[in-house]
Amino acid sequence: MLDATTQHTNLFLAGAWRPGRAGTFTAVNPSTGEPLAEIASAGEHDVDDAVTAATAALRGHWADVAPSRRGVLLARLADLVERDSQILATLESLEMGAPFGLASGLFLPSLAASLRYYSGWADKINGEVITTDGYFGAPTHAYTRREPLGVIAAIVPWNSPLMILGWKLAPALAAGNVVIVKPAEDASLAILHLASLIEEAGFPAGTVQVLPGFGAVTGEALAIHPGVHKVSFTGSTEVGRRILRNSALNFTRTTLELGGKSPQIVFADANLDTAIQGLATGMFTNQGQVCAAGSRILVQRGLYDAVLDGLKAAAETQVLGDPFDEATTMGPLINRSQRDKVTGYVEKGRSEGARLVAGGSEVDGPGFFVAPTVFAGTNDLTIAREEIFGPVGTVIPFDIDAEAIAMANDTDYGLAATVWTGDLGRAHAVSAALHAGAIGVNGWSPLAPQLPWGGVKASGIGRELGYEGILANTETKTVTVVL
Ligand code: NAI
Ligand code: MG
Repeated sequence: MLDATTQHTNLFLAGAWRPGRAGTFTAVNPSTGEPLAEIASAGEHDVDDAVTAATAALRGHWADVAPSRRGVLLARLADLVERDSQILATLESLEMGAPFGLASGLFLPSLAASLRYYSGWADKINGEVITTDGYFGAPTHAYTRREPLGVIAAIVPWNSPLMILGWKLAPALAAGNVVIVKPAEDASLAILHLASLIEEAGFPAGTVQVLPGFGAVTGEALAIHPGVHKVSFTGSTEVGRRILRNSALNFTRTTLELGGKSPQIVFADANLDTAIQGLATGMFTNQGQVCAAGSRILVQRGLYDAVLDGLKAAAETQVLGDPFDEATTMGPLINRSQRDKVTGYVEKGRSEGARLVAGGSEVDGPGFFVAPTVFAGTNDLTIAREEIFGPVGTVIPFDIDAEAIAMANDTDYGLAATVWTGDLGRAHAVSAALHAGAIGVNGWSPLAPQLPWGGVKASGIGRELGYEGILANTETKTVTVVL
């Protein structure tokens, strides 16, 4: 167990640390299956209290904070995140199993970068002056204001909780909103430590609150609460669909980021070594528990065998183990049910006739490990159609560009895609033809706070990050003065 005297396990509500009215739940270390901590579970009345406190902050202390001051607070929080990055990364690796190097080298810097990027936006959110033909013969002076939406519920998954929370929290606060965070039941500890940094940074009470708890209780109560103006959600398509349906109750705004089945297309003119390295990164990073995981590998016939050989070698050189061991490249999956879901897909791949190229074997041990697995197959297999959220990829051959584009787009999802080619014209033409929110050319899933991020089709609605993140956290008001 963690040191209960230093680790926050209570709700962070109205600027205070409180037990939850729904009791507690046990956080489990996925590397060992052992309990890590008992965490307070927020009940419906806690959600009501949080919305009341958020509303008071929105109309009170937070509304009085000047825009540039909001930026200062965000920058201060970024500094504190950097100060405590080892603690935060340790908690993340412990609770969700990412190799420590990934948590400390990517997830934490990404959180700090989002906070810093949006700290710069806080005092640069402007409307515009708009010319009209006039109003019944009188001239007008018309302009827009971009106002905060109000109370925003940030419902966060477990696969990189701090990084993903940063995409929601930073633009929401920069634009003057208040935020109620619902961490995933599998990963609340790092976010609760972040809450203590938010307190230390000096955000007014109620500006940011953190309510751990179960999706069906805490998440549901938040998403349907009439005092919540927007739900920003990252997670499964199933829950995203439910949130969207629930949003009709109160016309709640939503941003939904729902994962995918992202293709990586390798053309015969690609640099083979770079491509194989990037393909493997796209399949195995964070044990494949990545919304943009590049798990459908479409390869032009001439390179097909070479790519299979390269991915087999890449899979076989992964080191599964303790996330805190420096040699480890892959930790465990998040929990037993996710492990069983993923091994179920491996079985399905075999039974539907895909050819196993690497992995596929059981991994012993108390933790929830799955061997990195590569199949040779076709785009109609279940393993090529459904999101697996584990280290399993399917390699599929094609002959001409049009066939690759058609297969890449033949999916319910549309979050990301990667194009590996040495031909610049082809790179742009294929990027334009792909139905996805974000395309990487010769690099898997480039992410930066400046770049809009989000999907089409079942991958969701709306964009996070970049200036679009500001737009998604503000409402436009039009003011027309008849002169
Ligand atoms: P999930 O969608 O159930 O959980 C994500 C978040 O939503 C958690 O905080 C959860 O507590 C909350 N939630 C659950 N039900 C809710 C409800 N009715 N109202 C409001 N909030 C609710 O995802 P889960 O069950 O952890 O994973 C299942 C699958 O979802 C994965 O195998 C993967 O395919 C996909 N997934 C995709 C992610 C992405 O990055 N896009 C992240 C996590 C999961
Ligand atoms: Mg679920």
